[in-house]
Amino acid sequence: MKAVGVTPRQKEVGIIDHSAPDLQQDDEVRIRTIDVGICGTDREICTFVYGDPPAGSNYLVLGHEAMGEVVEVGSEVEHLKVGDFVVPSVRRPCRDENCLPCREDLQDFCSTGAYVERGIKECHGFMTESFVERERFLTHVPPELRNLAVLMEPLTIAEKGLAQAWDAQSRLPWVRHHANGKPTGKGLNAVILGAGPIGILGAMTMKAAGFETYVYNRSPLPNPKAEIVEAIGAKYISSNDVAFRDLPGLVGSIDLVYEAIGISSVAFEVLSILGVNGVYIFTGIPAPGDSIPVDANQLMRSVVLGNQAVIGTVNADDASFKAAIKDLAYFKKHWPEAIEAVITKRYAIDSCRELLLDRATGIKNVISFD
Ligand code: BGC
Ligand code: ZN
Repeated sequence: MKAVGVTPRQKEVGIIDHSAPDLQQDDEVRIRTIDVGICGTDREICTFVYGDPPAGSNYLVLGHEAMGEVVEVGSEVEHLKVGDFVVPSVRRPCRDENCLPCREDLQDFCSTGAYVERGIKECHGFMTESFVERERFLTHVPPELRNLAVLMEPLTIAEKGLAQAWDAQSRLPWVRHHANGKPTGKGLNAVILGAGPIGILGAMTMKAAGFETYVYNRSPLPNPKAEIVEAIGAKYISSNDVAFRDLPGLVGSIDLVYEAIGISSVAFEVLSILGVNGVYIFTGIPAPGDSIPVDANQLMRSVVLGNQAVIGTVNADDASFKAAIKDLAYFKKHWPEAIEAVITKRYAIDSCRELLLDRATGIKNVISFD
């Protein structure tokens, strides 16, 4: 089978020959790959600072944002059937008996670090014609979401972030006094930092949750990302026009920040203007390197005097995948053109090197095996 892979020892990126997988266990499902998204993590793996092949392999098949069709089910598969569309999760639990998160299906909170991630860490990914996965790591996708479901995995990052923000803010009346048991962002301000795929999907998630939503991004207006942001009823603010210090004057108190920019200097500037009782969610993973100066005294004062919560979020659990299905359906219903515009273009596998190695363009590029 054709696959897109990296061979770190030879520093090679491109199409490789990968053997077709068979079912090994009765709870496994074989999937024909349809769409695989390309993200910053993939591009970073292609610079060889991140990502590891599985034990015994000198290459790693890339791809962790996938959608495919079930073509074979093992005898113990309970809910999925041939013809169903599915999205796999990324992280697989470690084997340590004492790792409570992994033992309770919360491997996104793995405490040993010995987890593996498909297409990233010690386990092949999905950028290949077909793959095998256990049923418990797959989420069923309704057919009407088939063309959008490649966005599910990056959307789960926002879903997990928001779920943690609700948890942190259950200390406050704005979450505690909600009607019908569902927390709402109504009357609260969210600033999304960055307008890449994670930022735009984050903006959609916060907007759908009821927040007054602002996206703060470098690119000057007008631009296609700003058009998407405005189409969902959020406001796009370019750092060209508004300095970060002036954001609270424009937005009001910033109750939630969803950082999706990965640039620590900007991320910490915006942390310094987080509102009283606010929550700040980090999602970016900057490459290790030079240190940057920050005004730590001011930051520490405002975190303490403002009861602020700073949360990092990586990967996602099953509940976040379920939430992503619901939100994707909501986005499609309310903002059909905007959500479709998040997928910039579908390419054949032959374009993989340009997509992974050249300057990033558009929002979400997808390799399609269909
Ligand atoms: C993926 C996550 C993963 C993280 C760290 C991200 O690109 O979306 O699922 O946990 O990289 O490897
Ligand atoms: Zn990703």
